[in-house]
Amino acid sequence: MDGMGTLARLAGEEAPVSHILGFGGYVPERVMTNDDWAALVDTSDEWITARTGIKERRIAADDETTLTMSANAARLALEDAGLGPQDLDEIIVATDTPEVYTPDTASFLQHDLGAREVPAYDLGGSGCAGFVQAVDVARARIAMGAERVLVVGVELISRLINKTDRATAVLFGDAAGAVVMGRSGGRAQVLDVVAGTDGSKAEILTLLTGGSRHPFTMEAARTGAHQDLVMDGRRVFKEAVHRMSAAVEDVVARVGRTVDDISLIVPHQANKRIIDAVGARLGVDDERVYVNVDRYGNTGSASVPLALWEAVRRDRVSDGDLVVLTAFGAGFHWAAAAVQF
Ligand code: UT7
Repeated sequence: MDGMGTLARLAGEEAPVSHILGFGGYVPERVMTNDDWAALVDTSDEWITARTGIKERRIAADDETTLTMSANAARLALEDAGLGPQDLDEIIVATDTPEVYTPDTASFLQHDLGAREVPAYDLGGSGCAGFVQAVDVARARIAMGAERVLVVGVELISRLINKTDRATAVLFGDAAGAVVMGRSGGRAQVLDVVAGTDGSKAEILTLLTGGSRHPFTMEAARTGAHQDLVMDGRRVFKEAVHRMSAAVEDVVARVGRTVDDISLIVPHQANKRIIDAVGARLGVDDERVYVNVDRYGNTGSASVPLALWEAVRRDRVSDGDLVVLTAFGAGFHWAAAAVQF
C-alpha cells in the first residue's frame, strides 16, 4: 500500500464516495489499418497483430483537434447524465497532446461547452494513467464541495508521432472519453482509487521536445534536431503488467473485496499482450477483461474512458457489478479505481 494513499486515507478517514452520472466517448471516422501502415513503413499486419493485438486505429480529420474531440465526448457524457454544461462545477482534462501548449485544453473546453466560469484545468504529462488519476482528483474535489465535475481523457497522438518510426507510430490512435461525476445519483459509484508514481523510470517513456531540456526552437525546427518519443518497449511492458495488476489488487482490498468479486476489469488498452498478462497474473478469465485495443490502438488518456463508455453501451456492465479501471503511463504512473454499478 506504500505510496498509494489518498488524502482521505492519510487522515484516517473513510474514502469519500462519488458517483458517475454519465458516460461519453468519441472516435474519429477515419480508420487506418495495419496494411495502411505497412504501405508507409517497414512493418506488416502480422507483426503488429502478433506483438500488440492492434488491427486498426482511428486518425483525426484535418479539421479535428484535441478540443473538438473532447467536446464531442463531453457533450455525450452530459447528455447521458441528463445535465447541461451550466450544471458543471469543475472541468478536468487529462491529456498529453493538448490543444496548444498554453493555455490548457480545459480553458478552451469551458468556453466551447458554454460552461459557467468554473475552475478548469488539465492534468498533463501522466501519459495513459491521466484519466484515472483525474477521476481521483475529481472525487477529492467532490468531497470538498463540488457538485458535478466533468472528467475528460483525450489524445490526438497521430499528429505528433514520428511517422517514420515503426517501433512507436503503429501503436497509437486518436480518441476521447468522458464522465460526469457528482455527489449523488447515476448508475455507478467510485468506491476508491489507488494511484502511485515511480519517477526513477521517467526516462523509459518520454517525449523530450518542447520542455526546458530540449526547447522547441525555430533552429531545432530548421535543422530537424527534434527529440522524438523515446520508449524502451520491453521495460514499459514489464512495468505495465506489474503495476496494473498490483493496483487492481490494492484497490479491491481497500474496498473490502477480492479479485474474484470483480465483474469486469477495464484496463488501459496499450497492447493485448499486456492486457492478457494482467488477466493471467490476477487469475481473471478473458470474459472479465474488456478489450478494444484491436479497433482503436493505444489512445493514451482516452483509452480507459473510451473502453468504459463502450462497455456500458454494449451492456457488458449490469447493475450490481464491481468494475475496476486500471492504467499505467509515462512517469512512471499507475492508478486503479473500484467502481460499483
Ligand atoms: O501507453 C504506453 C505506451 N507504450 C507501451 O505500452 C509499449 C509497451 N511495449 C510493447 O507493447 C512492446 O514492447 C512493443 C509492441 C512496443 C514491441 O514488442 P516486442 O515484442 O517487445 O518487440 P521488440 O521491441 O523486442 O522488437 C522486436 C523486433 C525488433 O527487431 P530485431 O531487433 O529483433 O531485429 C524491432 O526492430 O521487432 C522490430 N520491430 C518491428 N518490426 C516490424 C519493432 N517495431 C516493429 C514494427 N514492425 N512496427
